[in-house]
Amino acid sequence: MTEDPASCEDPTVCFCYRVSRAKVAAFLRKQNPTVASQLSECDSAGTGCGWCRRLLEDMHTTHQAGGDPGKDLKQDANEAARRTWQSERRSKPS
Ligand code: FES
Repeated sequence: MTEDPASCEDPTVCFCYRVSRAKVAAFLRKQNPTVASQLSECDSAGTGCGWCRRLLEDMHTTHQAGGDPGKDLKQDANEAARRTWQSERRSKPS
């Protein structure tokens, strides 16, 4: 039986601190934080550039609703979204 490589993927949620979807999901299950900002206690997720904060909030919301947080995340899509975000951020006048 051949395993689908995509099913083994554990996409990065926070690139600044290399926090994966599995790590965030495990933290949500074990700690059941009341607010998304408590995910910063999961290896400092979300405390760097800030790109992943919306993603963390979405994962927290999904968890609170009883869903599987981040189940549709893809590494390639996350990397591309972050590159675009960084590029737009750099091009904004300060
Ligand atoms: S990607 Fe998470 S803080 Fe930068």
